[in-house]
Amino acid sequence: MTSGGDAPGLNACIRAVVRTAIFNKLKIVGIQHGFEGLISGDFIPMNANTVSNIIQLGGTILKSSRSERFKTKKGRLMAYKKIKKENIDAIILIGGDGSFEGAKTFTKEHNVSFIGIPKTIDNDIFATDVCIGYDTALNTAMQAIDKIRDTAQSHERIFVVEVMGRDSGYIAYGAGLAGGAEAILVPETKADDKNLKEVLRHGWNRNKSSLIIVVAEGDESGGALKVADDVKKYMPSHYVGVCILGHIQRGGSPSAADRILASKFGYGAIGALLEGKSNVMIGMRKNDIYFTPLEQIKRHHLDINQNLINMMTTLTS
Ligand code: F6P
Repeated sequence: MTSGGDAPGLNACIRAVVRTAIFNKLKIVGIQHGFEGLISGDFIPMNANTVSNIIQLGGTILKSSRSERFKTKKGRLMAYKKIKKENIDAIILIGGDGSFEGAKTFTKEHNVSFIGIPKTIDNDIFATDVCIGYDTALNTAMQAIDKIRDTAQSHERIFVVEVMGRDSGYIAYGAGLAGGAEAILVPETKADDKNLKEVLRHGWNRNKSSLIIVVAEGDESGGALKVADDVKKYMPSHYVGVCILGHIQRGGSPSAADRILASKFGYGAIGALLEGKSNVMIGMRKNDIYFTPLEQIKRHHLDINQNLINMMTTLTS
């Protein structure tokens, strides 16, 4: 099952889960439309061929949803009945923190077994260094910044680029750093207006011919439009453009790193089931697979430490 917002690499993961299950002589069905499909019994048979030629595709062949019904006791009871009727022993849940919260509540009420696989372009799930989809989204955002830089440079303009991440700054920080942004505003730190002014003035005074500010959608500054308005106030003679990247960051063909991660997670999730593990999330730490009880899974934020701040200050100076 894929649940929550789509992320590049879901299909690569579905492929790995299905192929590993079949290789180990397990019977496997796809649950369509996330928890909504579990409630309504929207199951499809899967075999090695149903996952042919999908490793390179964005989105999810199983469809996804953010189910409101599953947040209710009644919805979860309906889902449980469908699980029993279909004789499902365990569910491989490719999801984010919202989906894992749902699974945790479900396991407290009913005797169900999950193996969680973390995916989200926001990369903000505890107990894994990286989630499926982050690398591709990061590269998409970086490439967009590179392209905006061409125009900014040619016309000597300032641009404010807003990236996704909900209340997490991973994409902003990563894409800003990789794209050579002059300033990066993330929710994990308080945006210092005075500091931003100084950075921009300093850049312009040393004859930089373009300035790019990357702002995370969840930053307390209020997003790219608001930041651009503020910048216009203190640099009135400058063109200040805004580019909100939005959902282009969620789609597209997954990067090699995401395909490999998704394959390792899918393969490892079935391995965990065969070893008798239950209600755990697979994760990647220091390049190694390991498992954490779903119970401990929560949101995790970018760690902004002094080293990071020093590096950013040095590189943008
Ligand atoms: O969690 C992934 C994410 O893309 C966030 O970065 C963003 O805030 C949110 O989902 C958007 O959700 P939706 O597609 O439902 O508008």
